Amino acid sequence: PVADGTDSINAKKQKVNAATSGAKNTVHTGITPESLQYIVAPMVGGSELAFRLLCRKYGATIAYTPMMSSERFAVDEEYRKTEFQTTPEDRPLVAHFSANDPKVFLQAALLVQDKCDAIDLNLGCPQRVAHSGHFGSYLLDPVDRPLVLSMVKELSSNLRVPLFVKIRLLNTIEESVELCQQLVAAGAALIAIHARYRVNLVGRSGPGARDGAAHLDQVRTIRAAIDPKIPIIANGNVITWEDVQKNREDTHTQGIMSAEGLLDDPALFNGGTKVDKFQLAVEYLNNVALHPVKMKSVVFHIRRMCREELTQYQLLEDVVAAKNVDEVRQVVLQGMAYRDNGNYKHDPDKAKRAKEALERRKYEEGKRKAYEERMVRKAKREGKELDFYLRQGIEPPTEDAIKELK
Ligand SMILES: Cc1cc2nc3c(=O)[nH]c(=O)nc-3n(C[C@H](O)[C@H](O)[C@H](O)COP(=O)(O)O)c2cc1C
Repeated sequence: PVADGTDSINAKKQKVNAATSGAKNTVHTGITPESLQYIVAPMVGGSELAFRLLCRKYGATIAYTPMMSSERFAVDEEYRKTEFQTTPEDRPLVAHFSANDPKVFLQAALLVQDKCDAIDLNLGCPQRVAHSGHFGSYLLDPVDRPLVLSMVKELSSNLRVPLFVKIRLLNTIEESVELCQQLVAAGAALIAIHARYRVNLVGRSGPGARDGAAHLDQVRTIRAAIDPKIPIIANGNVITWEDVQKNREDTHTQGIMSAEGLLDDPALFNGGTKVDKFQLAVEYLNNVALHPVKMKSVVFHIRRMCREELTQYQLLEDVVAAKNVDEVRQVVLQGMAYRDNGNYKHDPDKAKRAKEALERRKYEEGKRKAYEERMVRKAKREGKELDFYLRQGIEPPTEDAIKELK
């Protein structure tokens, strides 16, 4: 049998409690085996306070913040205020960071450790911005291992809360197991495994693709190989409550983390009891009224959680067109009214406009993809790093780069 995995976290806290007895103990003791069961994944533009509170109401037992840049968090108060929002009900909470410098990461973590229950290092982000910024899954190259382990060591020995890591799979299971063992030896108190491979900037299909089915069998192997006191969390392949249960049994892990599944159904962890999507949307908007977020996130969430219902009543485009949260609320209430009063009538003109808008978006997306592919081919032809041209615009250009582009 696998131990509950929170022993080491609690041991650390007891040490902390002893060290701080007499003083006001600011360490939250909310991380229990139960709290690790149903986890809101870190999501940029997705796991903000308003959404976390909604998921918690419907069964989520712990939540990660969206990724925050440790570099900016360490020095920019305005950034801290906008990116890190929490309330007393928003616990236990994991503050999730991108980082590639132990000192800077520690500086950022020290500023937030009294308002969360753990700090997490992002070793999973596969996006272009992570490649150019040298963080996320791009730190999983063997060449960066000393850097990664030094960050884990630095934080786990200098924080009052535990240090977690979130990784992707490496090319072979042996490499993944070795990575996890090294992370644990360096002081990681929990490992969340997004069971898809890390990838390079290009080549996102075939073996090692970042999409497609997650390899939960590998999570099970890692679980069996790692010190049972360290909780391992499985992430991937969750759409329904049944998936949550099954994945937990199959992997023997301490908890299940979900991102896409919760976006589609914030009540995913509600023990199999469905909650009306319009009701969830209204509750989310109520949370937003108390804890404002960018309109982009509001539109994103409402479209995801009510996609079927909004499509049925031809309201999807109305959400996209909404200029503020009140207008989004009106659209949701309109949907509810159609459903409850049975007075919805299909509008062929609206259907045509919606189709055109969708085609326009697809066209723009296609153009963007084609551009990226062209730039990668151009860089390859010219013997440059494959993301040479794609990096332009993400990083401030150097004078040499400008000359070269000219
Ligand atoms: C909108 C969105 C934003 C995400 N942002 C982050 C992030 O900030 N940090 C991170 O480690 N993973 C991020 N992810 C990845 C998820 O945390 C998760 O690992 C991945 O989606 C696989 O889980 P799923 O199959 O349940 O979606 C994001 C995913 C989505 C859909």
